[in-house]
Amino acid sequence: CGIVGYIGQKDSKEILLKGLEKLEYRGYDSAGIATMNQDGVHIFKEKGRIAELRKSVDEKVEASTGIGHTRWATHGVPSQLNAHPHQSTTSRFTIVHNGVIENYAILKREYLQNVELKSDTDTEIIVQVIDKFVNEGLEVEEAFRQTLSILKGSYAIALLDEQNPNMIYVAKNKSPLLVGLGDGSFNVVASDAMAMLQVTDQYVEIMDKEMVFVERETVTIKDLQGNVIERAPYKAEIDSSDIEKGTYPHYMLKEIDEQPLVTRRIIDKYRNDADEITVDSEIVAAVNAADRIYIVAAGTSYHAGLIGKQFIENWAKIPVEVHIASEFSYNMPLLSPNPLFIFISQSGETADSRAVLVQIKELGHKALTITNVQGSTLSREADYTMLLHAGPEIAVASTKAYTAQLAVLSILAAVAAEGKGRSLEFDLTKELGIVANAMEVLCDQKEEMEEIAKEYFATTRNAFFIGRSVDYYVGLEGALKLKEISYIQAEGFAGGELKHGTIALIENGTPIIALSTQEHVNLSIRGNVKEVVARGANPCIISMKGLEEEDDRFILPSVHEQLSPLVAVVPLQLISYYAALHRDCDVDKPRNLAKSVTVE
Ligand code: G6P
Repeated sequence: CGIVGYIGQKDSKEILLKGLEKLEYRGYDSAGIATMNQDGVHIFKEKGRIAELRKSVDEKVEASTGIGHTRWATHGVPSQLNAHPHQSTTSRFTIVHNGVIENYAILKREYLQNVELKSDTDTEIIVQVIDKFVNEGLEVEEAFRQTLSILKGSYAIALLDEQNPNMIYVAKNKSPLLVGLGDGSFNVVASDAMAMLQVTDQYVEIMDKEMVFVERETVTIKDLQGNVIERAPYKAEIDSSDIEKGTYPHYMLKEIDEQPLVTRRIIDKYRNDADEITVDSEIVAAVNAADRIYIVAAGTSYHAGLIGKQFIENWAKIPVEVHIASEFSYNMPLLSPNPLFIFISQSGETADSRAVLVQIKELGHKALTITNVQGSTLSREADYTMLLHAGPEIAVASTKAYTAQLAVLSILAAVAAEGKGRSLEFDLTKELGIVANAMEVLCDQKEEMEEIAKEYFATTRNAFFIGRSVDYYVGLEGALKLKEISYIQAEGFAGGELKHGTIALIENGTPIIALSTQEHVNLSIRGNVKEVVARGANPCIISMKGLEEEDDRFILPSVHEQLSPLVAVVPLQLISYYAALHRDCDVDKPRNLAKSVTVE
């Protein structure tokens, strides 16, 4: 979910709606705003996207204070009833909330026995408890403070009090939240800076368990004991043109096309004046001091981690384990004496990964975050950060962040190898340059990709991606892309594993996308293709130049074999894009998903 707030002199509706549009990547099950003027609080909320909300907002209601929310449903189905903002029974207090209140059932039992709740959400509990405390005689600030101190879980909150139109009450724990400073006549609140870049680029970070009292002209931060905290603002370094689609029909296509540029930018950012690859010396020391590396990530970032393991193990000879963040807590492996944790996260906000970071920090271990978002939670809380420099990624399905993760992991592995006295047998900068060129060639072959998408995915219900060695991992990512945006049931398999069960699913015409970029497994994967073709499958072999055979459907430009994942994934991204387009799916905002999942 994402939240916004505005307090100033202008009408707040449009600012809030525009802000929410920029936060839709955090969820789009429902959306709502509450604005406040001398007549009181006006709530508009709708199931579905911001576009639906826009239609229902009454243009005539003008109010210069307001809060807003876009929801990724956790407690309670997506519906208008469960959409934020939520109000207390007296209607005095109105709240928007991102996060999960874990003890909501206990709080309900303990404090709200006689209150009839209007929604199924954990959020309503917060606003009802605040109202109750105020009714019992507490000042609003004290009621807010006491409520926060009994909440367990995660929250980014903005609260309106109908009796005080000059204030937005704000608080945060675990969920991201920033306060944006205006020109003296207004201030804003947002889950991330992108949302309010339209009005300011000056932001103040809010830390866990802090409250903020946001007025038109002032912002006061306090800890939960009531002590005032001073904190300087920073300038958000996002170019607002980066977050527009330009002439592209979808963000996803724009972001796929940006991959050559991002790869070149990464080479540039991690290169010194002598043209050598360079990484912060503290990071190199931490990697070289580790006897084992634990990569923790979710979704596409997890798939990047699988390939990162190959780079680090092959080049630096440091053992690496890759873990799914949400499983780590209860399936914690036996840790080596000197572990280093690497968190890979485009957003830097994924709650599952953050939970592991908190856990391993408590154990006293060091962590490096590889992220696209400077100042994100995982970046702030880890010991070290390496940035992806990919520019904002807006489409829910990750593309340029994935290849950027691979490029940055290759750089880290190369530097670690050097630290261990094992220079690479090739010039990584040069080879990454060749990768960027190859990506460009692929991005120019969109018509071919569209043909493949139509030929294989126009009507199919399922599809399988197979590969061996790193091609298997790229296949996992290809399958994820396809299922995320086209809703075709797609699975990635190790070529040799398919015959141990899944081959039972192969029917006449089932599409099999087989990758072959690795010479040492080329013949074996081709053997696997023959096995499925014998059972009726419709094969689409994508091979690397030099390994191609007559019937291959698409030939990738040749790059260094170990860097092939950065290139092999590009046609898979494009094919998924066109498959989704032809099936009339919402490419940038697929159903049920959110780009940044800030709940565990
Ligand atoms: C969500 C997104 C995925 C993404 C995953 C991890 O589930 O829908 O596309 O890969 O989160 O996100 P992160 O920001 O941590 O890389």
